[in-house]
Amino acid sequence: MLSSTNHQKVVLVGDGAVGSSYAYAMVQQGLAEEFVIVDVIKDRTLGDALDLEDAQAFTAPKKIYSGEYSDCSDADVVVITAGAPQKPGESRLDLVNKNMKILSSIVKPIVDSGFDGIFVVAANPVDVLTYATWKFSGFPKEKVIGSGTSLDSSRLRVALGKKFNVDPRSVDAYIMGEHGDSEFAAYSTATIGTKPVKVLAKEKGVSEDDLAKLEDDVRNKAYEIINKKGATFYGIGTSLMRISKAILRDENAILPVGAYMDGQYGLNDIYIGTPAIINSNGIGEIIESPLSADELKKMQDSAATLKKVLNDGLA
Ligand code: NAI
Ligand code: 2OP
Repeated sequence: MLSSTNHQKVVLVGDGAVGSSYAYAMVQQGLAEEFVIVDVIKDRTLGDALDLEDAQAFTAPKKIYSGEYSDCSDADVVVITAGAPQKPGESRLDLVNKNMKILSSIVKPIVDSGFDGIFVVAANPVDVLTYATWKFSGFPKEKVIGSGTSLDSSRLRVALGKKFNVDPRSVDAYIMGEHGDSEFAAYSTATIGTKPVKVLAKEKGVSEDDLAKLEDDVRNKAYEIINKKGATFYGIGTSLMRISKAILRDENAILPVGAYMDGQYGLNDIYIGTPAIINSNGIGEIIESPLSADELKKMQDSAATLKKVLNDGLA
């Protein structure tokens, strides 16, 4: 449970493009009274703390500072964005060896600090690193959350919003599976304004091929952005803020995240993207979507891809 006072504390580990975008989103939303930034590049955290505090006169007062792992002892949430990003042409899974090494040096000192809050992991390959965070920390599974398919689901909602000319916030649709190349759009459960997307598509003359192309574009959107500007960070920074907000405000919000599977979708012992209820305890409950047979197979195939990388990565 979160502290009973209304003073909430978040520690960010990894102050690169993703971490600093997340910090900026948190400041903009006035979330967490205390925000600590940790990175191996100390000057970057000192500079970012000074830069971010300049926003306070326009947002809300907050204690923002450069810190150490010992600052995690009384934190409500620790967000991990430390790790190398993909270079053009690299997949997320290609990052596993590099980033697993970084992660293993981070989780132990956080746990040793006495941290008893919620881990939120975003570094890639996120599903594998979320599992590793759970393993290295020894935390209960519900207290370790991956950003999973949060960003991808936002991309899907934006794309469907454009296609059907509606506000993406009115689109209820999920990308599920790996945050990566084997993910898929769970179209059979997607709705816009109470209408199943597949029904709406027929009404509006949008073909199955159009929907498949849209799904493909969403799957490849990170590559498109990385090719153009070298990295993606505003989308994930905002996704991480949304997950943090659901935890800090004990929202019971249903969000797409990376969650530990305990029999759902016929899967076990893996973190993978699914809708789940997020509250101050972390993952309150997994929402097991009623997928079509074809989608369930995609979920299981995606899990098999992840399991292989996970077994190699932790070997
Ligand atoms: P970046 O290179 O800009 O920042 C990484 C930061 O991690 C650097 O400041 C670096 O000094 C720090 N770092 C490295 N080792 C560390 C350690 N041992 N302790 C503390 N800090 C350490 O990279 P960027 O663009 O911020 O990406 C970060 C990660 O987020 C990458 O793995 C990337 O693939 C991932 N990502 C995940 C997304 C998602 O949807 N889950 C979306 C976008 C990126
Ligand atoms: C993204 O999907 C690269 O994982 C990162 O933007």
